[in-house]
Amino acid sequence: MKVIIFGLGYVGFTAGCCIASQGHTVVGIDVNDKKVAAINNGEAPIIEPKVTELLRDARAANTFQADTQIGSHLDGADLVLVCVGTPSAPEGAHNMRYIAEVTRQIAQTVQERDLSGLSVAYRSTIRPGTIHELILPIINSIVTDTNPPRIEVVYNPEFLREGSAVDDYFAPPKIVTGTKDSTPNATMTALNEGIDAPRFTVGFREAEITKFVDNSWHALKVAFANEVGRTCLANDISAKQVHEIFVSDTKLNISPYYLRPGGAFGGSCLPKDVRALQYIAADTGVNLPMINSLLRSNAAHKHALFDWAVAGLDQGARILMVGLAFKAGTDDLRESPHVDLARKIMAAGHTLDVFDPAVKADMLVGANLGYAFSALPMLNRLLVDRDQIAAAKYDRVLVNNATVEQLQMPEGVDVIDLGTLP
Ligand SMILES: NC(=O)c1ccc[n+]([C@@H]2O[C@H](COP(=O)([O-])OP(=O)(O)OC[C@H]3O[C@@H](n4cnc5c(N)ncnc54)[C@H](O)[C@@H]3O)[C@@H](O)[C@H]2O)c1
Repeated sequence: MKVIIFGLGYVGFTAGCCIASQGHTVVGIDVNDKKVAAINNGEAPIIEPKVTELLRDARAANTFQADTQIGSHLDGADLVLVCVGTPSAPEGAHNMRYIAEVTRQIAQTVQERDLSGLSVAYRSTIRPGTIHELILPIINSIVTDTNPPRIEVVYNPEFLREGSAVDDYFAPPKIVTGTKDSTPNATMTALNEGIDAPRFTVGFREAEITKFVDNSWHALKVAFANEVGRTCLANDISAKQVHEIFVSDTKLNISPYYLRPGGAFGGSCLPKDVRALQYIAADTGVNLPMINSLLRSNAAHKHALFDWAVAGLDQGARILMVGLAFKAGTDDLRESPHVDLARKIMAAGHTLDVFDPAVKADMLVGANLGYAFSALPMLNRLLVDRDQIAAAKYDRVLVNNATVEQLQMPEGVDVIDLGTLP
C-alpha cells in the first residue's frame, strides 16, 4: 500500500515508522523543513523509544521519505493519514486551521491530477461535527465528478501515548473508525490487519468525540486520585495503601460498573458518603473542587431527566413510572432520584401512577418510611398493580429500572427508558 502522511509530529512520524515497518511505502509531508530534512537523513525529529531503529530500517529499504510539498505524491496512493496539529485556540476550542489547509491541498491535488479511489483518514483530534461541517464542505467545493466519491473520508482517532508510542501503535486499546455510513473502510481494514484490538466502526460524530471522552476520563481519574490523596494526607492516612485497596477492586471501582449513561445516582449510600467526604476534607482544610461538584452534577442530571421525561406532553398527561426505589429489586426509597422525578412530574401538573413491585407502602419501616412519606405523602395512592395498569391508558411510560420487563405494555405505548440513554 502507498500511504501519505500529513504532519510528522509525534502521531504522524510514529505512524510513518510503524507503517513502513509493515512493508508499506510511506511518504510524510510536513511544512517544517527541518523535520523533513532530519527524516530524510535517517534522524528522528522527536524523542521516542524505538522510532530511530524503525526509521533507519525504513530508510535503508527506501520505504519512508519526507517532503515539504505534496507535489505528485498522491499519484498511486491508497491512503492519506492526516496527523497535523490541532492546538488549543484562545477560547479553548481546537484550532482547525491546519486541518482545513491540508484538506484543501488534498482536494485540490485530487481534482487537478484527476485522482480517485483515495481514502483520507483523519487521525488528529477534531471536535465532533468537523468532518460534516468543515472537511466534507471543503472537499465537496473543490472535487467534482463525485459519483462514485473520489475521496472516501474516514475518522480514525489515535490512542498512542508518548513514551510508548510504537508499542501502542501495534497494540492499541481499541481501533475506532468513523465512516459516513458506519460500515468498514476496506483500506483501513487492510492497514490494521494483524493488529489485535477491539474494533468499532461507527458514524463520524461518535468517532470524533471518542478522544475527548477518553482524555477527560483520564484527567478525571488523575484529579480524583489526587483529591483522595490530599484528603488522606491531611487526615494521617496512607494515600498509597488507600490507592492499593481502591485499584484492587475491579468489580465496582476499576470496571464498567457505574459508567452507563442514564439514571442519576441516589440511594442511601452514595449521596450521604460523598457529602461526608466533602465534610471530612473541608474540616481538615482540603479543597476538593471535583468531588465537591458531584452532587451538583447529579442535580443537573436529575433536571435533564425530568425535561426528557415530559418533553412533548400536554399538561395533565397521564404517566406511568416504572421503578421508584433507587434500583430494581429493593424497596429503599432514600434519596432515590426517581422519587425526585415523581415529585417534579406531579408539580408540573401531570397525573402519575407508579409501578414498583418491591415497594409496598405499608411495609416501609424506619428511615425509609420517614423519607418515603415526607418526600411523597401520597405514595399509597400513586402505587398501582398490573391489573390497574392493564385497565389504564397512559400517554407515556417512563422506565427507571429493569422492572418494566415484568410488565406487559400495550402495543404502541410511548415508552422512554431513562435508565439507559440511546
Ligand atoms: N501527541 C500525542 O500523544 C497524541 C495522541 C493522540 C492524538 N493526538 C492528536 O494528534 C494530532 C497531532 O498531534 P502531534 O502531537 O503529533 O502534533 P505535533 O505538533 O507534534 O505535530 C503536528 C505536525 O503537523 C505539522 N503541520 C502543520 N500544518 C501542516 C500542513 N499544512 N501540512 C503538513 N504538516 C503540517 C507541523 O509542522 C507538525 O510537525 C493532534 O490533533 C493531537 O491532539 C496526539
